[in-house]
Amino acid sequence: MRIITAPAAMQGLAAHWQREGTRVGLVPTMGCLHAGHLSLVTRARSLVGQRGIVVVSIYVNPTQFAPTEDFARYPRTRARDARLCRTAGVDAIFAPRDRQMYPKYGTGAFSTFVVEDSLARGMEGAARPTHFRGVTTVVAKLFNLVRPAIAVFGAKDFQQAAVVRRMARDLNFPIRIVVAPICREPDGLALSSRNRYLSPAERAQAVALIQAIRQARQTVRRAARPVLANRLKSELTWLIETRPAARVDYLEFFDPRTLRPVTTVRRGAHLALAAYVGRTRLIDNGRL
Ligand code: PAJ
Repeated sequence: MRIITAPAAMQGLAAHWQREGTRVGLVPTMGCLHAGHLSLVTRARSLVGQRGIVVVSIYVNPTQFAPTEDFARYPRTRARDARLCRTAGVDAIFAPRDRQMYPKYGTGAFSTFVVEDSLARGMEGAARPTHFRGVTTVVAKLFNLVRPAIAVFGAKDFQQAAVVRRMARDLNFPIRIVVAPICREPDGLALSSRNRYLSPAERAQAVALIQAIRQARQTVRRAARPVLANRLKSELTWLIETRPAARVDYLEFFDPRTLRPVTTVRRGAHLALAAYVGRTRLIDNGRL
């Protein structure tokens, strides 16, 4: 397994693979890898085949964090990540250093951003106004550096996957965007690098997110007619906030194809939510 840090070296290698006609699958991550990330690696491998190349990028991307967020303390576990990748059969890790992706960032020397201007507006985009601009910018850079035929994203970040797919289409990246299902703990909590911030008491309360999704699914499937989104929102907010450490940031019901909010909820609609458990912000989503 190769570990590449310099963007120019990554681009050179990608050009070499392209000349050889090797199929490349990319799994973009911020590291602190868990079974959810590794499921994307498995998916990438099955898509590019044994003769293809699977690249995992590991980069805690500063431009997708607001100044008040956890960029500085986001867990960085490079040695462990490399071991996990090697065991998972990854061919190459691309792990650039901060300043290599954004040379002289903050001095005005880096000044080009990629903005998806529709799907990125609601939910995570409304709660974290500069977040998706950072995501689309770094993902576009990764696409240009790694030149994959396929890129695999997780349904855990449902809106992110939709935004990236739209960006790839709108900007003519010749890349197939694949979305893999959410990996969960036995109690249903979605795996996330941020789960390690939770104290044991908070960890127990974090099941509130998946319980809200299950509750919504049950309500919608049992109801004789579509359920009012606002009514369901207040019920679920109440359900989550009965846990002392939990506070809802947003709950949204939407059409999974357009991401447009719906006012009445029926089977097949999608629920996405963000909630703080203590100081940790968690997200989850599911089809109802
Ligand atoms: P990160 O949070 O590290 O996630 C990397 C990829 O793993 C994303 O596509 C995410 O949806 C997926 N993932 C995370 N938890 C998952 C789970 N429990 N089950 C399945 N997939 C899961 O998302 C990012 O990094 C960044 O925004 C990035 C795209 C790398 C751009 O910086």
